[in-house]
Amino acid sequence: MLRNTERSWGAAARLLHWLVAVLVFAQFGLGWAAVVWPLSPTKLDLFVWHKSVGMLVLALMGVRIAWRLANPAPVFPEQMTQLERGAAWVGHVLLYLLLIVLPATGWILNSAAGIPFRIFWLVELPAVVAPDEALADVLKLVHLTLGMALGTLLVAHIGAALRHHFVLRDDVLVRMLTGMRRSG
Ligand code: HEM
Ligand code: HEM
Repeated sequence: MLRNTERSWGAAARLLHWLVAVLVFAQFGLGWAAVVWPLSPTKLDLFVWHKSVGMLVLALMGVRIAWRLANPAPVFPEQMTQLERGAAWVGHVLLYLLLIVLPATGWILNSAAGIPFRIFWLVELPAVVAPDEALADVLKLVHLTLGMALGTLLVAHIGAALRHHFVLRDDVLVRMLTGMRRSG
């Protein structure tokens, strides 16, 4: 089923979750590799990949938020306490925010650095601010800090998913993986 049900995630939400997850994991490797690689054509290619995949994540998040607004999430398992529900809600909202703000800072950074760039070597990314070296330096720090915040949040997110599966033994991980309810 494409749409969410009261108890589980539909195929569209699951596809968007796992596609964005794979791309975001790749982004940490690509961003880090692009920064530390010695100056060479490979370094420039790594940057094109990093920025292109980042813009793809931004676009997919637009689709994801629209889909999420049109498709209410499945309800939390009954055993979850108010505190756990609150923590899950805050964590998910922060993930959505960071997945928008982080690529957006990359886009502004790229504009401030005055580097012309084509998404996947095809489409020119329009500049959103004029070249400004001081601004670019600040944004490098902001981009890195937000990246570390996202990394920390993801450790907690994955930890929570594993806790649901192995400790609480509820449906939460299974319904995001298969869209089915846990049996047995
Ligand atoms: C970069 C990696 C990831 C990102 C950005 C991410 C982001 C998100 C977001 C934003 C939600 C909330 C969905 C919503 O309410 O609309 C979510 C849900 C979920 N994520 Fe992830 N996730 C990532 C990786 C993972 C991994 C590796 C796992 C498993 C180990 C996982 C397990 C889950 C589960 C089980 C839910 C559903 C929670 C529920 O049913 O209420 N995620 N994820
Ligand atoms: C989900 C999206 C993104 C994530 C998770 C991400 C993450 C990262 C990380 C971890 C680094 C390495 C930081 C360092 O070692 O200093 C980095 C660097 C960088 N990113 Fe991103 N990024 C994303 C999107 C983007 C986008 C869309 C752009 C541009 C269009 C971009 C442009 C850059 C640039 C120019 C650097 C190098 C900064 C420097 O020289 O210190 N990023 N990114």
